[in-house]
Amino acid sequence: FQPKTLLGQHVLVSAGPTFEAIDPVRGITNKSSGKMGFAIARAAREAGAEVTLVAGPVTLPTPRGVRRVDVASAQDMLLAVEAAVPQATVFVATAAVADWRPANAATQKIKKDGSGQVPALAFEENPDILARVAASERARSGALFCVGFAAESHDLAHHAKVKRERKGVPLLVGNIGPATFGQDENALLLVDAEGTRELPQAGKLALARQLVSEIAQRLPR
Ligand code: C5P
Repeated sequence: FQPKTLLGQHVLVSAGPTFEAIDPVRGITNKSSGKMGFAIARAAREAGAEVTLVAGPVTLPTPRGVRRVDVASAQDMLLAVEAAVPQATVFVATAAVADWRPANAATQKIKKDGSGQVPALAFEENPDILARVAASERARSGALFCVGFAAESHDLAHHAKVKRERKGVPLLVGNIGPATFGQDENALLLVDAEGTRELPQAGKLALARQLVSEIAQRLPR
């Protein structure tokens, strides 16, 4: 049983990797499984919220009662997130958004021409979805509470604090442990203006439920 701590709230979650096309049959992605974001969407729904889950390419079932929007690229994810922001009261950004996308993706499959020449990939920067949403009027006015995630290989507490300020979010959640991608368990470090708090290692759904209650406590009432 989950207490309905998010009744009346609309939680928007971004989850999974993004897929950045090189040509119609190739692209660049990363190893995010989407499990943490899907667990948060489920926990938020259980807590009584309306939930919109914007998901990159993952192979996970949609949590019951959750509205899911599937996207591929970071630019598509930004559009889907921005479309949901006006209704949302909480945004939890768990997606592992690609930092760069191939510049000028080819509209036709790039062919091997037999000469041994390899294609040169050039990149351009993707939008920072969380930073943009956190800078929006809705977030700045307090109508939308933004939560960011950080996966760092070392010095998590320091990087998480710096990232919280750089992204302009009230709550930043660090993944403790080097390889949480694809794992069923995790441990989290919560960083807010008051300080830090650790949620010790547990299954991702258990952690998601704890995180949801931490978020609920921080919402304006
Ligand atoms: O800067 P970094 O990628 O480490 O920030 C991680 C946080 O920012 C996560 O919450 C992630 O979902 C979000 N993010 C985003 N758009 C990006 C990059 C990161 O929303 N382009």
